[in-house]
Amino acid sequence: MPDYMIELRDVTKRYGDLVANDNVTLQIRRGELMTLLGPSGCGKTTALRCITGHNIPDEGRVFIDGEDVTDVPTYKRELGMVFQSFALFPHMTVFGNVEFPLMIRRMNKAERREWVMDALRMIRMEEYEDHYPRQISGGQQQRVGLARALVYRPKVLLLDEPLSNLDAKLREEMRFEIRDLIDRLGITAVYVTHDQAEALALSDRVAVRNAGHIEQVGMPDEIYDLPQTRFVADFIGLSEFLAGTLSAVHTEERTATVAVDGLEIHVPATPEMAPGRKVLFFIRPNDIELLPASQESGINVFVGVVEKKTYLGDRSDYRVRVSEGLELRVQTDGKVRFEEGENVKVHLPIPHCRVIVE
Ligand SMILES: Nc1ncnc2c1ncn2[C@@H]1O[C@H](COP(=O)(O)OP(=O)(O)O)[C@@H](O)[C@H]1O
Ligand SMILES: [Mg+2]
Repeated sequence: MPDYMIELRDVTKRYGDLVANDNVTLQIRRGELMTLLGPSGCGKTTALRCITGHNIPDEGRVFIDGEDVTDVPTYKRELGMVFQSFALFPHMTVFGNVEFPLMIRRMNKAERREWVMDALRMIRMEEYEDHYPRQISGGQQQRVGLARALVYRPKVLLLDEPLSNLDAKLREEMRFEIRDLIDRLGITAVYVTHDQAEALALSDRVAVRNAGHIEQVGMPDEIYDLPQTRFVADFIGLSEFLAGTLSAVHTEERTATVAVDGLEIHVPATPEMAPGRKVLFFIRPNDIELLPASQESGINVFVGVVEKKTYLGDRSDYRVRVSEGLELRVQTDGKVRFEEGENVKVHLPIPHCRVIVE
């Protein structure tokens, strides 16, 4: 068996002068849920349409299950598809809607019934077979859309922003529903979204896209904890970057020091680090420790003053001034422990310090 269920090899797709996918290479493993994540207009749908065959790449090849399908028409690719506007046929029952793809494939009636009921059981809606779309909720309609995509047991399921027409609460429920369904089926799936929380919650791996290309591919925790580019860090919700310069690399300790606005911050070293290089430093607000002013000094412990505190229920948020030009955002669990104007110390634990070398 080939290693990858889907492979894009150096795929370029242009619309006139616009390069919607610029030499994109991506490998999706068998049974994996891969998400294409990126802002609107970055070419996610175009990439998906290259997989489905609705777009023919200008350059490069597309493989499904080891076969070069670049020139194979959509209907022969054995794909299930769910789109944002998944509109069910209003005049057909749930059963009729799910049966439709099997009718097109000229399956006999007894077999159709069996396959449709299998698909309805999969989404726990076998009792709704006689209902019409208007008689069921939006979430149930979306599940029927999924059943319709899965009923003919495709090799691959492709979902293009399938939840973006649903309200926030339902969207969150459906995330788990989709994840659970894909786990049960063991099917390979490609999921397109611009919503980073959705991508992190759903995916085995995420490909973060930016304007026609892929910036980083990784597991959700890698994308979240170790973004490799500023774009990824920014898109994934780490908006506070501090510009600095690498002042030293300590080979023995496997650390380096970054000068940021008068502070010397110790960070984990990486191979591309060299003194003098410009870097972006960041640390998540909930990874910073806030300590009483009486706390001893040490590596990455800095003196500060609380400028602002905000109670957030399960957390408290502080703005702590650590130097004239530098205010750090810190989030701690639970109740407010420090007051505005209070002297404190902040500790930036080395393993949580992140640096992108520019
Ligand atoms: N059929 C088309 N003709 C011309 N331009 C298109 C066409 N489809 C998409 N585009 C453009 O290509 C870019 C990528 O679009 P798309 O793949 O739909 O992005 P996304 O799904 O990430 O929002 C956008 O700038 C879009 O306007
Ligand atoms: Mg799109």
